[in-house]
Amino acid sequence: MVAGDAARWHETCCRIRMLIAQISDTHVRPKGKLYQGLVPSNRMLAQAVDHLNALDPRPDLVLLTGDLVDEGQPAEYAALAEILAGLRIPHLLIPGNHDARDVLRAELPAHGYLPAQGPLDYAIEDHPARIVALDTTVPGKHHGAIGAPSLAWLDATLAADTGRPVLLMLHHPPFLCGIPYLDKYGLEAPERLAAVVARHPHVERILCGHVHRPMQVRFAGTLAVTCPSTTTQIALRLRADAPPASFLEPPACLLHLWRPDAGMVTHTSYIGRFEGPLPFA
Ligand SMILES: [Fe+2]
Repeated sequence: MVAGDAARWHETCCRIRMLIAQISDTHVRPKGKLYQGLVPSNRMLAQAVDHLNALDPRPDLVLLTGDLVDEGQPAEYAALAEILAGLRIPHLLIPGNHDARDVLRAELPAHGYLPAQGPLDYAIEDHPARIVALDTTVPGKHHGAIGAPSLAWLDATLAADTGRPVLLMLHHPPFLCGIPYLDKYGLEAPERLAAVVARHPHVERILCGHVHRPMQVRFAGTLAVTCPSTTTQIALRLRADAPPASFLEPPACLLHLWRPDAGMVTHTSYIGRFEGPLPFA
């Protein structure tokens, strides 16, 4: 490639790049109530919204990977809608085990891409990267599962366009993370999802929530990552007898930057005020 070609290719890549932010496990409560009676999760989501709005360049899209609210109550979804009204970036959401699929659907009518019935599985085709969402929730339970019809839909959806990278979003990570109190509530039969994903190498990332911590693992030929929470972070304790706990470690979002010449790079962006900028030489 000569210098002029390289410059044009670089320009093309910059033009069709895509920046996708991910936040997760926002656990919104009715206005005036605290998460677990202790933590201002609504205010922390509002801070995350301010953080996302201030990013430069601004993301093209924000993905929310479940546990949008804490108890699936209409008043919680009303509070969520009010906070998200301040987010000046298009956004897509999926439910987590703390959500109630039918209440969510009814209370957030602006999210017209959500199917009217059954699991909230969907695909968004409007961008250089395709967004495919799978609803892993089991009503009334904390573990996750994906039914055979959803897996068949996923297989057909992934096969329909192999020319663009896919971000597959689901709440429950499809792997054991080694933190005992999280692995009790994982995704059932992840090998069934692995069998489908392995047939589609254009799945660039699997984006998950649920564990309130950042993690990465190789999975079925792709990379599965989890997003920190915008509120509490679950304790990183790997002993089999470890008692569960959470900490107010800095909340964060993930930024997935995709360019055709560089692939997808996932960055972690901490939400809050930190000392700096300091000189870098
Ligand atoms: Fe959560």
